[in-house]
Amino acid sequence: MKILVTGAAGFIGSTTAELLLAQGHDVVALDNLISGRRENVPARANFVEGDCGDVELVRSLGHLDACIHFAGRIEPGESMKYPEVFFANNVGSTFRLLDALVASGVERFVFSSSCAVYGNQVEMPIDESRSIHPESPYGQSKRMVEEGISWLISCGRIKAATMRYFNAAGGTLAHPERHRPEIHLIPIALDVASGKRPFLEIYGKDYPTPDGTCIRDYIHVSDLAQAHALAIGALVSKGELVLNLGSGIGYSNLEVMETVKRVTGIDFEVRFSDRRPGDPAAAIASNDRARDVLGWQLKRSDLETIVRDAWDAHQSL
Ligand SMILES: NC(=O)c1ccc[n+]([C@@H]2O[C@H](COP(=O)([O-])OP(=O)(O)OC[C@H]3O[C@@H](n4cnc5c(N)ncnc54)[C@H](O)[C@@H]3O)[C@@H](O)[C@H]2O)c1
Repeated sequence: MKILVTGAAGFIGSTTAELLLAQGHDVVALDNLISGRRENVPARANFVEGDCGDVELVRSLGHLDACIHFAGRIEPGESMKYPEVFFANNVGSTFRLLDALVASGVERFVFSSSCAVYGNQVEMPIDESRSIHPESPYGQSKRMVEEGISWLISCGRIKAATMRYFNAAGGTLAHPERHRPEIHLIPIALDVASGKRPFLEIYGKDYPTPDGTCIRDYIHVSDLAQAHALAIGALVSKGELVLNLGSGIGYSNLEVMETVKRVTGIDFEVRFSDRRPGDPAAAIASNDRARDVLGWQLKRSDLETIVRDAWDAHQSL
């Protein structure tokens, strides 16, 4: 198949593009490099630098069997400062992309959504039928696209899978996690372990959790990539999929910090500061639906393996 991967110079997009190439697909890697890096794009992919919302550019790519749409701005905190930028990019560009894809006859679309659409939930784990309460323009931008996609599906314009990721983590030697700016706990903790930052800051230690720090569900980027490849196949027979992608296990910030210290063998300073607005106490996925529908098997999503792989990849930087 010829598959368009938007955001292919980013963390999850580059890892998925690598997997698709290994499976024998042709990959067109589209990225405007606002936060991605050219060197992340797999060498065998056909790299096109540009905006996914450039209708003429997308239509010029020729026949495509499917599109996996990772491109987007990803920082919820930034979205509270510049919501218009997030809506223009994550919503505006996505619907122009869909316009171009539908006009070109592309039948299958996989969208990177986020657990941010659920907002602050109390009951864990969270399944896909849970109420939707985004708490940032970032989460809202994902929800707006989800709703638009549902209309395109019900109007018979495209088949699509909406993938609600929890915390993507881990990494491979070829594609380490390094966002610009980095906002994720594990790569920041690895920066501290390797002396690139002076201390690890943990936001809040008075949450209603066993150790008082936030609990998150970490999913290895290799397992995430696999779910996307499976979703492309599942869309042959299914018109719409909405799937949580998480490990189903929650780890507190302190547990992550301890794992990083153990795996690296390096002790480092940790400082606690106030809670960040909008950070839920816990976010843990129910992944039953993704496993049932896709036959998805998680191979590397235990915390020890995630941190070990992330550390190996981090040292290659
Ligand atoms: N990393 C996570 O834990 C996580 C969790 C939930 C959802 N997601 C979603 O997954 C997707 C990928 O995340 P990531 O961690 O790989 O982020 P990333 O920042 O590494 O990659 C995003 C890529 O999209 C590109 N991009 C942004 N806007 C673009 C546009 N208009 N046209 C073309 N390229 C554009 C950037 O240059 C970058 O290479 C995002 O949509 C994000 O919202 C990520």
